[in-house]
Amino acid sequence: MNDVSITESDVLACVRDGERFEHRGYQGNIHIGRVGDKNVLIKSAAGRGLTAWLNRWMLGREYRIYRRLTGVDGIPHCYGFFMGRYLVLENVDSQTLRHATIRDRSAFFAEMLTIIKSIHERGVAHGDLKRKENILVTHDSRPCLIDFGVSVFRKPGFHPLNHFRHSFSHQHDFNAWVKHKYDRKFQDIPPEDAQYHRPLRIERMARTIKKTWIKIKKPSKPARTSD
Ligand SMILES: Nc1ncnc2c1ncn2[C@@H]1O[C@H](COP(=O)(O)OP(=O)(O)O)[C@@H](O)[C@H]1O
Ligand SMILES: [Mg+2]
Repeated sequence: MNDVSITESDVLACVRDGERFEHRGYQGNIHIGRVGDKNVLIKSAAGRGLTAWLNRWMLGREYRIYRRLTGVDGIPHCYGFFMGRYLVLENVDSQTLRHATIRDRSAFFAEMLTIIKSIHERGVAHGDLKRKENILVTHDSRPCLIDFGVSVFRKPGFHPLNHFRHSFSHQHDFNAWVKHKYDRKFQDIPPEDAQYHRPLRIERMARTIKKTWIKIKKPSKPARTSD
């Protein structure tokens, strides 16, 4: 259900006149603006033909996930999905984890873990939390999770493929949390957090490829010449 205080013409006006948010998105554009007393951020599906259809479908899917997460602390409020192509969200006063400075790391990551567990309780696994752009740090240094574009909702009943994808993303969320909390220094993980870190085969492979690539790229030191 869309928020009744926001009309289709409010959304169109915001897309037309609102500030364009520069980012490298997959599905389309982002605009930020104000509707009444609300600061909103609008994700819109772009493209033509089949791409447009696919982008709209993905945004609609993201909307249904946001709806399932209504009321979860640490998730932006969703005002609705308008005209089949505009996802309207609360614009959180924040910076992404890539650019923000966290005041109290221990409190921040404890709260982030609570948010992850809360979304899991609603049957949603995020699946893309390794990307620092999908974690916001609010002005009062608290976490907020966004971008449910590749999230998986665990369907009840017999759905083996869905359950496989869900349990993969479920573990991926915890691994991402550990990665950010310890800033990739996996040797520093204390026993109480080790339970959350179970690298998936694909993550281990990616890490090996990355290490090898870094080694190849590193210029080899010139051999010492004895004179
Ligand atoms: N609700 C929000 N409040 C504040 N900033 C947001 C919000 N949603 C998205 N953003 C900003 O927009 C960027 C892209 O949004 P995101 O949902 O991750 O789109 P994409 O699917 O294109 O990655 C984020 O990295 C963040 O900087
Ligand atoms: Mg994103």
